[in-house]
Amino acid sequence: MDINIPKGVRERLPERAYALKELMERIRERFESYGYLLYIPPTYEHSDLFVLRSGEEIRERMFVFRSKSGKKEYALRPEVTAQIARSVALGKISYPRPIRLYYFANVFRYEEPQRGRYREFRQAGVELIGSSNILADAETIALLEDSVESVGVSEYIIGINDVALVREFLRRFVPEGYVQQVLTAIDRVRSLMRRGHETTVAEELRKRGIEIDVSKIEEFVSIKDPAELTRFGLDPSRLLELFEKLEDMGVKRYSFEPTIVRGLEYYTSIVYEMDVPKLGGASQVAGGGRYDELISEFGGPKEPCVGFAIGLDRLLEASKVSPRIPKPLVYVIPLTTKRLGEILKALRSEFVTVLDVSGRKLRKSLVRAIEQGARFAIIVGEREVKEGKVVLKDLNERTQEVVRIEELVGKIKEKLGS
Ligand code: HAM
Repeated sequence: MDINIPKGVRERLPERAYALKELMERIRERFESYGYLLYIPPTYEHSDLFVLRSGEEIRERMFVFRSKSGKKEYALRPEVTAQIARSVALGKISYPRPIRLYYFANVFRYEEPQRGRYREFRQAGVELIGSSNILADAETIALLEDSVESVGVSEYIIGINDVALVREFLRRFVPEGYVQQVLTAIDRVRSLMRRGHETTVAEELRKRGIEIDVSKIEEFVSIKDPAELTRFGLDPSRLLELFEKLEDMGVKRYSFEPTIVRGLEYYTSIVYEMDVPKLGGASQVAGGGRYDELISEFGGPKEPCVGFAIGLDRLLEASKVSPRIPKPLVYVIPLTTKRLGEILKALRSEFVTVLDVSGRKLRKSLVRAIEQGARFAIIVGEREVKEGKVVLKDLNERTQEVVRIEELVGKIKEKLGS
């Protein structure tokens, strides 16, 4: 019998759970301040939803299971973008355009677990649906930056590319059926190199049984300035326009990065990734881009979209949030349960109040109250309750008094104020 947590899956005990909660709250606050609305996705779907355009990486890594009859194949969500695109395609989200949605979701990918790489991990993401304007791309990048800065992360770089240009370039000499595989290989190299493995595009292609002349690709991925794209007969104007918008919006820490092509296949133009170098191998904290064809591929209208997802487990590692763990302020020791519900309700409307359920001797319960860090202990005694009162002990000041139940909350507030 193995009752341990499976490989690549993690639990969060309260200290880390509260740190994650704090991280999520700050990010949620940023997302909502830009007008994004909460979307809660289903946990699993028909696997077809993710197979269509998610890309090899994700298809190979899906957690798949079957219905009892064996007729249907399901997959735990490996990401959320396809779910939202599907719902827009099916006409379930008919808000005026552009639609702005955000989500927090645990997602599942069958990966080889290592530090920062898990099989169940958390994402916070946004999708901006219904605008093809470059300002929409810029808004999502600004929001990504704003979100990570809100949790104290400032050592990051946002790499930006236009995958449409890479495709256009590859199509000139790579047979159409192989273009996506070359993109996957470029993405693999980027990801493997980051994890300290030495590899090349040629090698990654050889593993896939593809032999093409990679010298042109290598020349392409080594350019530093988008203006150089014209050397390859490519038009960098969309990228340049985006960079101008980013400047105007105050986004500073970005650079052109021709090796960013993303592992997911649905991207159609601008793509970006955020890296926090101090995280080492798993330094890619977020990724996103424009996907203008996914909704129509799901049978919906042509709706341009752009969005990103942050990997929260990685961001938490890099962030400086401190958990705010609720501490009991009041510890109630019931020597009788008469009027207990009423007393607890009044206290809990204002303070974190823990009920002593041990049935131990009063002295032991008082020790427990101190150990838990409570400032006040309330002793609900038979005799006092009959008179509509309880004993209020101030554990800091080591004082005690008998207080009317109706006045208890006010009395505690008074003491806290003094
Ligand atoms: P993605 O790049 O596959 O994009 O995932 C987003 C982020 O999730 C990554 O940047 C990384 O921080 C985190 N992540 C990925 N795999 C793991 C893992 N095994 N363990 C821990 N963290 C991981 C997407 O999922 C797209 N849906 C983003 C998007 C939204 N594009 C448009 N809209």
